[in-house]
Amino acid sequence: MSELHDPNAPQATSDLSNTGRMDVSAVLDEGRASVPDSIREVVFNLDDVHIFYGDFEAVSDVTMQIGKNEITAFIGPSGCGKSTLLRSFNRMNDLIPGARVEGLLAYHGFNIYAPEVDPIEVRRRIGMVFQKPNVFPKSIYENVAYGPKVNGMKVNMDDLVEDCLTRAALWDEVKDDLKKSAYALSGGQQQRLVIARCIAVKPEVILMDEPCASLDPIATAKIEDLMKELAADYTIVIVTHNMQQAARVSDRTAFFTADVDAKGVRHGRLVEYGPTRSIFTAPNEPRTEDYISGRFG
Ligand SMILES: Nc1ncnc2c1ncn2[C@@H]1O[C@H](COP(=O)(O)OP(=O)(O)O)[C@@H](O)[C@H]1O
Ligand SMILES: [Mg+2]
Repeated sequence: MSELHDPNAPQATSDLSNTGRMDVSAVLDEGRASVPDSIREVVFNLDDVHIFYGDFEAVSDVTMQIGKNEITAFIGPSGCGKSTLLRSFNRMNDLIPGARVEGLLAYHGFNIYAPEVDPIEVRRRIGMVFQKPNVFPKSIYENVAYGPKVNGMKVNMDDLVEDCLTRAALWDEVKDDLKKSAYALSGGQQQRLVIARCIAVKPEVILMDEPCASLDPIATAKIEDLMKELAADYTIVIVTHNMQQAARVSDRTAFFTADVDAKGVRHGRLVEYGPTRSIFTAPNEPRTEDYISGRFG
């Protein structure tokens, strides 16, 4: 193992020609304080989860738990089922014809796929932020107020809007323009507005599917800072193709890949899951090591 993994060794910032693991190792020191090996409070418990689109099994045999107030990152090559799995956490897959989940996916011990569960209520408690900021064609104010109104929340709306925009680190930039169209904002501001809209309905969990993929580095840094702040109050699960981002923001990392079966069909699988520092510095699985060191073919 390289001396760069020694916490007392000099930082690996000078050699920019290095990629993958060495860079990530330096970034880890700016990341979140280390988490215990085992999860203290479980929010999601997945046991042998399989997800299908019609006959196609996109995700196979996932067993894992998601910890409360942790940031969990899903990483892995494109097409290995990260988005599919993330969407199953708040029943967003219900909206895709033919999509089906098998196995147990429990939220605080309740199977969220049980027949009596209302998927709308599930999505209020478990919000989602997508790659492209999907702001509504409404004012900045109305974007945030929309969910609470639809849900009939009895609140002082002005206070709630201010509070959510403040928590989303956007208030100072928009407080004089609340009546302006959300479309007038930059991409990074729109993504923070989407996060403000998401937290306005008081969710417990925020799912984020590559939330920075369409943003520039400065906007990305703001969203990453925001995620770390929000983790005090929310449980966050993020899909990212950016390993540096996973190393910077997450407490725990899950590495997925796709296995090819005898018929040549690819099925997404969870290869390894653990505290982010362990995954990036001492993975147990050779496939994780290959991926994080950039040797993945
Ligand atoms: N709506 C869909 N209908 C059918 N197949 C899908 C759908 N969405 C994704 N898939 C397939 O499921 C597999 C996993 O996709 P996805 O979850 O998007 O992977 P990732 O997010 O890791 O790139 C891929 O083979 C993809 O083509
Ligand atoms: Mg995806």
